[in-house]
Parts: sequence; C-alpha cells; structure tokens
Amino acid sequence: MSLFRPEIDRIAGYVPGEQPQDAGWTKLNTNENPYPPSPRVVEAVTAAAQGKLNLYPDPLGTKFRKAAAEVVGFDPDWILPGNGSDEILTILTRSFAGPTDMIAYPYPSYILYETLSDLQGAKHERLLLEPDWSWNFDKIGDQIARSKLIFVPNPNSPSGNRWTWDYLLSLTPPRGMLVLDEAYGDFCDAPHRGELLNSDVGKQVVITRTFSKSYSLAGVRFGFAIAHPDVIGGLRKMKDSYNCDSLSLAAATAAIEDQDWMQQNTARIRTTRERLSAALTELGFNVVPSQTNFVWATHPTGEHRLQYEALKMRKILVRYMSFPDVDWAAGHKLDGLRITVGTDPEIDRLLAALKEIV
Ligand SMILES: Cc1ncc(COP(=O)(O)O)c(C=O)c1O
Repeated sequence: MSLFRPEIDRIAGYVPGEQPQDAGWTKLNTNENPYPPSPRVVEAVTAAAQGKLNLYPDPLGTKFRKAAAEVVGFDPDWILPGNGSDEILTILTRSFAGPTDMIAYPYPSYILYETLSDLQGAKHERLLLEPDWSWNFDKIGDQIARSKLIFVPNPNSPSGNRWTWDYLLSLTPPRGMLVLDEAYGDFCDAPHRGELLNSDVGKQVVITRTFSKSYSLAGVRFGFAIAHPDVIGGLRKMKDSYNCDSLSLAAATAAIEDQDWMQQNTARIRTTRERLSAALTELGFNVVPSQTNFVWATHPTGEHRLQYEALKMRKILVRYMSFPDVDWAAGHKLDGLRITVGTDPEIDRLLAALKEIV
C-alpha cells in the first residue's frame, strides 16, 4: 500500500545529469561553467560565514535585489530571489496551476517542466517543435489558447537556439502566464532586455535567470524571477519564508556586482563554443548554431549512444539525450549529444577522443 498521492506514485521523477564524485573526469554534461566564480564571491561568503549564521537570513533578499536591479534595469520590487531557478519554476507551477489548469512547454526542451506539472497534478501538453527547432503556430495555436501556464526556455535546451521576441509574444496565453526561462541568456550574442515585461502583456510574463551557468555558481543554488510587482507579491506568498540562505545571498550579491568577471567568462565560452561547433562539423556532426554554453550535435550514423559510451570509457562525460516520441526523420527517433562548452584544453581532449571514435 502506498500512502503517496497517486501523482507521485505515477511518475519516475526527474533524473538530473550524472555528477561523478571521483576525480579525473572531463565533465561536459550539465552545462556548468568551467571557470571559477569571481574572487569577490569567495570573500563575501567567507565574511558571511564569519558573521551572524545564528540568525535567519533576510527573507526578501533586499541587498541582492538592489544589486540585481542595477543590472537588469527593473526596480527591486520586480525581483524574487530563489534557491536556484528550478525553485522559482516550482513556485510558479504551484502558484498558477491547479488540477484543472493546463501547463504547456515546447518539446523537446527542458524535461523538468513536465515533471513539475506531474507533481502538481495539473494537466499538461507538449508544444511540438519543428525539425529546425522553430514553432508552427498553425499546429499549436489551440494549445496556447487553452494554457494557464507556458514555460519557454530561451535559448532552448537541448538545441541551444534562441527565439526572437516577436515569436515569444505569440506564445503568451490569452488567459495565462508565460514564463521565459533565460537560464542561458548571458551566453547570447545580443543581450536580453526584458522587452516583454514592458509590453501590453507585461503582467502575464515572468522571466527567470540562474547563477548556475554564467556566474559559475551551480554549487551555491541561486536564481531569481523578474516580473511585475503584483506578480512578485503573489509569488512571495508561495515561497518558503527563508528560501535563500545567508551564504547564497552573499555569494549572488557579490557575483552580480562583478559584471566584468561574468562578461569575460561568457565571452571566453562563446569563443570556445564557435571553435567546438566548427570542429564537430568537420567530424561530420550536424550542430545547431548555439546561443548558450552547450551545443546539440547529431551524427548521420545515429550512433549517439555508442559515442556517449565510448567517451565515458575515456572519462569524458557528455549528455546523451533521446526523445523516442519525436519522429522528425521518418523511421528515425530523435537523439543526440548535448555537449557543454568547457575550457579549451577540455574541448581539445573531447575532440581528440571523438576523432578516434567517429
Ligand atoms: C533551461 C534550464 N532552466 C533551468 C535550469 C536550472 O537552473 P538552476 O541551477 O538555477 O536551478 C537549467 C539547468 O540546467 C536549465 O537547463
């Protein structure tokens, strides 16, 4: 006999990428930043650890919100800090989707949206993307119309492409919320400016950002939402009182204050990304032009699982992903390799191994 809610028993649960605990791996599987965070982060965390850890943290993260406001161009009352952007996505799901409401998301994209919908016991539907990762609004118009909550990662994962904001405007449900998950926004060639928040549908839009990628802080767990203060006010009711601890608030505040550090690292990653994409293409892979810190590569042989396993034998981890229900090429189910852009020596190691394997 299970005492869990049927929704919990029914699902397998979200499976994050492998996090090996032994040494010696070239880890290119979970889109972490290969460079360390700003030295100011270490100073700030050390100072916070020597400070008042016996007291609860600021429940609203006031210092962080002030620092973030300077960077994102929206006032502090437009900002909600969270324990990773995944927590923000959970808060949004719980806030907007009851059992009769519909959650939708592009497919293939970030699988967590589906898991969150399942856990919430809401209805959900996939908005099927086209083989070139574009939208076909003739096919998905009705789904958008009946959605209460739509999650769109922009740029997308696993493809790495970015959609322009006129597309995103068409994705706003008439009686629902659009969440733009900008986890990889800092790696784009042109910066995000939150245009949709200032549009007529501004109160129906939430943007989420993370510190796990561009700010090199995946180990700290910090992200935030940007939305109209009325929306932020509602979300605050749903969050835990102290959802961000003193150390992560100190780390994130120092990190966002050091924009030069973040910009230098993302520029380095963009340069390596272009080199990696060109080299993979030379090896016969099809590579989607990426606006992120990873690339999506498929090979005409279709032997992606074997390639993943052969790399793993050499202690190089990439992410093998398969979408058995996506039949873009007749008779061939979609799968491929999602490869995080590491340091130049890491990418050299990967390319040397792939030359032997392919
Ligand atoms: C599209 C997308 N959104 C959100 C996240 C989660 O970010 P965080 O580490 O802030 O929870 C990821 C992590 O890989 C992601 O790929």
